[in-house]
Amino acid sequence: MKKRKNLITVAIDSPAAAGAGTQAKFISEEYNLLYLDTGKIYRYIGKIKLTHKKKFNYSFLKKKIQKISLEALNDKSLISDEVANIASIVARDIKIRNIVKNFQLDCAYNPPKKYSGSVLDGRDITSVIMKDAMFKFYITANLRVRANRRYAEFKKLKKRISYRYVLKSLRKRDFLDKNRKFSPLKKTQDSILINTSKLSKKACFIKIKKIMDKKLNY
Ligand code: C5P
Repeated sequence: MKKRKNLITVAIDSPAAAGAGTQAKFISEEYNLLYLDTGKIYRYIGKIKLTHKKKFNYSFLKKKIQKISLEALNDKSLISDEVANIASIVARDIKIRNIVKNFQLDCAYNPPKKYSGSVLDGRDITSVIMKDAMFKFYITANLRVRANRRYAEFKKLKKRISYRYVLKSLRKRDFLDKNRKFSPLKKTQDSILINTSKLSKKACFIKIKKIMDKKLNY
């Protein structure tokens, strides 16, 4: 695969609801980078599995992924607990992971010319997809803080769901994502740990920006 030269590349991994998406968006705006939330790809596939139960197989999926667009990943229906749970089930399948790998690599290393680089977040970005990224972060927060944040997001969207259910579901997803055979979520040695439990979104971004500006000589 051809890679664009002199890109600013940022790889982020995190458990669910740790604030990685928010930080990735801030980073993309500050440094003019393409942002790809790779969790949305697995959610998109999870949704296909839910809606096309009978047709769902690898070749059907391949065709769907060939046509995938960044806009399709903005679909609001992907933000549900049901879709998140099925996403983490389909994400265990190495064949499915391989089907979506090229799309991620393309976004990471060949972003449209108007961008100075890319920022991707997910579970295997620092360990598999962008091992050679210029910046690698592992963003985390304790489970209860994450459950509180996710619960507040669901409430804002007027979804009927209890805090206990959100907590239980995050705990289960953490377990599945960290203990699966292929591409498990882990902090790589060369990733910088950012714990957002006690930090505001702004404070967290200031920390990240300091690290990035230093290396970029800004
Ligand atoms: O980040 P988000 O919560 O949207 O991700 C949904 C699920 O997709 C995760 O729980 C995980 O199982 C899977 N995922 C993955 N690899 C990624 C991104 C997400 O396996 N790079």
